[in-house]
Amino acid sequence: MKLGPLNHVGVATPSIEDSIGFWRDVMGATKIHDPFDMPSQGVKVCFVDTPNTQIELIEPLGADSPIAGFLEANPQGGQHHLCFEVPNIHAAKEEFEAMGKRVLGEPRVGAHGTLIFFVHPKDMGGVLTEIMETPK
Ligand code: CO
Repeated sequence: MKLGPLNHVGVATPSIEDSIGFWRDVMGATKIHDPFDMPSQGVKVCFVDTPNTQIELIEPLGADSPIAGFLEANPQGGQHHLCFEVPNIHAAKEEFEAMGKRVLGEPRVGAHGTLIFFVHPKDMGGVLTEIMETPK
């Protein structure tokens, strides 16, 4: 495994609209992208640019959203995952599995339009980890 750039930090929120206000007014973010729905993942997302990475705001799309449970446990939201880039998603999946790490599902298209997968936090020092193929 070759550690690539931190692409983004995922932050769950009950309201992207409220979180945008926080990142703009408290944290001084000047580049906030338009939120969009990802129905296949059950979430609405919004990227906030920082000088060296992005924050991915994630709001559930409905009660069966994969982040609904997280928000139940953390009603005001909070840090949800870290996302690192790799050059080849399929090679990375094989490498993690060879190390006994639980890859959650098959690689699928993520919010940046390239293939992603998640690795179980219990195999990753408690951190839900998203692995993303670097956009070409
Ligand atoms: Co993410």
